[in-house]
Amino acid sequence: MIERLPKTFHVKSFGCQMNVYDGARMAELLEAQGMSAVAEGGEADLVVLNTCHIREKAAEKVYSDIGRLIRRDDRGRPMIAVAGCVAQAEGAEIPRRAPAVDIVVGPQAYHRLPEMVATAARGGRALDTDMPVESKFGSLPARRRQGPTAFLTVQEGCDKFCTYCVVPYTRGAEVSRHWSAIIDEAKALVDNGAKEITLLGQNVNAWTGEDDTGRTQGLDGLARALDRLPGLERIRYTTSHPNDMNDGLIRAHAEVAKLMPFLHLPVQSGSDRVLRAMNRSHTTSSYLALIERVRAARPDIAISGDFIVGFPGETDAEFEATLNIVAAVNYAQAYSFKYSPRPGTPAAQMDEQVPAALMDERLQRLQALLNEQQLAFNRATLGRRTSVLLERAGKKPGQLIGKSPWLQSVHLQTGSGIGHLVEVEIVSAGPNSLAGAETMRNAA
Ligand code: 5AD
Ligand code: SF4
Repeated sequence: MIERLPKTFHVKSFGCQMNVYDGARMAELLEAQGMSAVAEGGEADLVVLNTCHIREKAAEKVYSDIGRLIRRDDRGRPMIAVAGCVAQAEGAEIPRRAPAVDIVVGPQAYHRLPEMVATAARGGRALDTDMPVESKFGSLPARRRQGPTAFLTVQEGCDKFCTYCVVPYTRGAEVSRHWSAIIDEAKALVDNGAKEITLLGQNVNAWTGEDDTGRTQGLDGLARALDRLPGLERIRYTTSHPNDMNDGLIRAHAEVAKLMPFLHLPVQSGSDRVLRAMNRSHTTSSYLALIERVRAARPDIAISGDFIVGFPGETDAEFEATLNIVAAVNYAQAYSFKYSPRPGTPAAQMDEQVPAALMDERLQRLQALLNEQQLAFNRATLGRRTSVLLERAGKKPGQLIGKSPWLQSVHLQTGSGIGHLVEVEIVSAGPNSLAGAETMRNAA
């Protein structure tokens, strides 16, 4: 039992970018309470495990982390909070299984973390997995983080109910944040040094809201408004659903200067039978037609995807169809996963779960093809002159690492500092990164 308020904390985030965003907001919230962040969980009075539930063993990882924290020898055990999607999905099961856990807080309730910490400091246990109607965002302190790139959640939750996916259960229904809250947060991020903002949402392109004049806007309207924000150089967004990819957003890729030529548009499978069983509500041909329209608007756009192999009942021919759609699209990068049955989702109940060894084999074949495409995409940028936003130090002296407009990592020697946009020529290309030579220094 803990009987004092923590002075230091550490937030460890697993999973998606939205969890990274939530982790940053929790840190700001705790800092506003006078606590200070430490880099290692081993040194903190309070450890927040910000968990992910999207694929297998995520929960197991949490329990082994908790075990490690309890055994921490030198400083006694810390106050332990389990946040994120495992907290939402497992709730009271967590302290039943791991009595050392003091706080369980879901992704829609973490604005209440300070009260929960106070409860735990009095020796109690606090559990909150509500999805309150009032938004947590309104109760969070203003953004104060530094750094050239920032995430900004504009939309949360999902109403699409793909049959494999836990998100509708852990993150709740689709909600769009208000226009002015987003613009204000973007301004605060830019004031703190952000040059690039990535708009986040589980279905980010379903974002909708009214602008200051009462006009209904979509994500393209938001991108156009952010394009006018002085000091902001780059806008990105993720993750998009094919069904919400409308003409306005496609046109924005041709017209909005700061909108980067990158689109993460998961297709999941290349088989229409599997897509129907997944409840994806798009087909392979509607997806391919969409990609064509996007490329017509922005020919150099980098297309990224997500794939699941071994969805229940997936035959060899259906898996081959996935390889075929990959070949047809030509991805710049992609994520691919073995299907993982998630408790409570319809697909977990389906017959004909695919054997693990077959899933392994399919995943390897798919990844080999995707890696080939990624290397080809990187090689195609050889000799190009482009801009790189410097994000962090590299391993060698004088080396910095940044991102190209197409989200490739670029290493270069430069006298410019982190946060600067520099013009480079791409001089070498590997599977995972590029090397650039600076051609001119920008004032940024
Ligand atoms: N099993 C495997 N992969 C999954 N994803 C989502 N749910 C599952 C699951 N049950 C993948 C999808 C999604 C990405 C974020 O994770 O490809 O787009
Ligand atoms: Fe994982 Fe999904 Fe939760 Fe993100 S929203 S942390 S991907 S389960």
